[in-house]
Amino acid sequence: MAKTGIRKGFILFLVAVTLIVAALLLLNFLEPSLRDYFFGEGVADTKMKQTAASSFDQVVKLSRVVLMMILVIVIVRALMNAVFAPLFRASTGYEASSIIRNAFSIVLYIIFFVFIFKNQYPDVDLGAVFTTSAIFGVIIGLALQDTLGNLFAGISFQADKPFQVGDVINIPTKGVGVVESVTWRGVKIRTFTNKIVLISNTSLGKEAIEVAPRNNLNARLVFFNTLYTDSPAKTIHVVREAVREADNVSTKITPIVRIRDLAASGIDWEVKYWLVDYSKYNDTDALVRQRIWYAFKRAGITFAFPTQTLHIAPRTKVEAHHDDTTLIERLSNVEIFAPLNEDEVSRLASTSELRVFAPGEAVIKAGDQGSSMFVINRGRVRVQISDNGKPRTVATLNEGDFFGEMALFTGEPRSANVVAAEETEVLEIGHQAMKQLFETNPDLVEALSNEVAERRAGLKSKEEAKETKEDESDGLFKTVKRFFGLN
Ligand code: CMP
Repeated sequence: MAKTGIRKGFILFLVAVTLIVAALLLLNFLEPSLRDYFFGEGVADTKMKQTAASSFDQVVKLSRVVLMMILVIVIVRALMNAVFAPLFRASTGYEASSIIRNAFSIVLYIIFFVFIFKNQYPDVDLGAVFTTSAIFGVIIGLALQDTLGNLFAGISFQADKPFQVGDVINIPTKGVGVVESVTWRGVKIRTFTNKIVLISNTSLGKEAIEVAPRNNLNARLVFFNTLYTDSPAKTIHVVREAVREADNVSTKITPIVRIRDLAASGIDWEVKYWLVDYSKYNDTDALVRQRIWYAFKRAGITFAFPTQTLHIAPRTKVEAHHDDTTLIERLSNVEIFAPLNEDEVSRLASTSELRVFAPGEAVIKAGDQGSSMFVINRGRVRVQISDNGKPRTVATLNEGDFFGEMALFTGEPRSANVVAAEETEVLEIGHQAMKQLFETNPDLVEALSNEVAERRAGLKSKEEAKETKEDESDGLFKTVKRFFGLN
């Protein structure tokens, strides 16, 4: 392909040169005959003839200049492609950017133009022509403002050489890509999704560009993680060996494997490796991850996924926190439990749960369903009902007192709020534990029914309370028995 291209170019070059040289020779050959024919001896010598002859001379000279310049352009272009570009490539290792080629070409064009012009018009002062045309300069300057801006930015890129064709550059607002060309106008990059992005030199000059030079050993970081149970020394060895053998990973520098963080789910790692061809870093990163996976599989190392270790402590049981005897003593001192024997009390203590409440915290909320009662082990509570939207305290209960029995025995909703007056520790007794006690102690039901009736009365106005208390105790006794399925 390349060879046919070169041959084609060479043939084109030969044809163009032959044609131009032929045209020049023809012009030289025809000029005397034409002059003789139009302005020769036979033609009357008038003023008009002199003016026409001089115009003829000008046309011939200009044609010669134009033809010679075309020849120069053809030759310079051929030289650029055939000699300059290969030499540049051989000495620097880079493709000569078009900005460099153009700069060289223009210098050569100017030199040849001056030479040809002087040859054809020896009397004209070229310097004066350019220096005196100030207006021309202003017009050109304004028209080319942007172009010149790009040109100078382009020249400064060439002078600084921050990047070359083939380098990978990262322009924050445009993305990452491989530099394809640096021209007078701007820079062309090919992104990793094979798109071409063109950026003008002026806007590129305002950006902070990250450059990964083509001939530099550029590094990449790949992240992974392992469980805490896997040995770090083993992980370092396994990953290093796996990565260094992957394609496009430079063998000049050994990959570095290090711990980034001792994180919640495991050890966070990074592996730093250097690439032979940085423009393929996406593929190489992926390959490195793949190699790590296989190496882990062989070595029995496990990737960490979000996990949490749960340390389950036994629930706060009475016996776990308190001296059993203190609690047994506490329960046996509760008036309603007085008829219970030692075994029953200790069973009750072991099936109860100890709970602590902050000052002001509600132990019970009025209206809630409830299937347990409480004995105050430490602290104090206030029994409150809502009176016109404001809490009214109907009783204050202290250590050894009990509450919450109403809902437990009747299945009705909680009749009042019970709020801790200070830090309060209570023993919670469930429905099942009470049921067992009722079965062996029928008297307990009666004692409790009386207590409930009394408390209910306390929740009502005094007159109301007197009337209802006695009847209610009776009714309650039956309700409790029915609720607990007792005979
Ligand atoms: P319970 O209805 O389950 O929930 C609220 C508790 O407050 C209630 O059981 C009783 O234990 C207690 N209680 C209600 N009224 C009084 C009162 N007048 N005196 C003492 N305690 C009461």
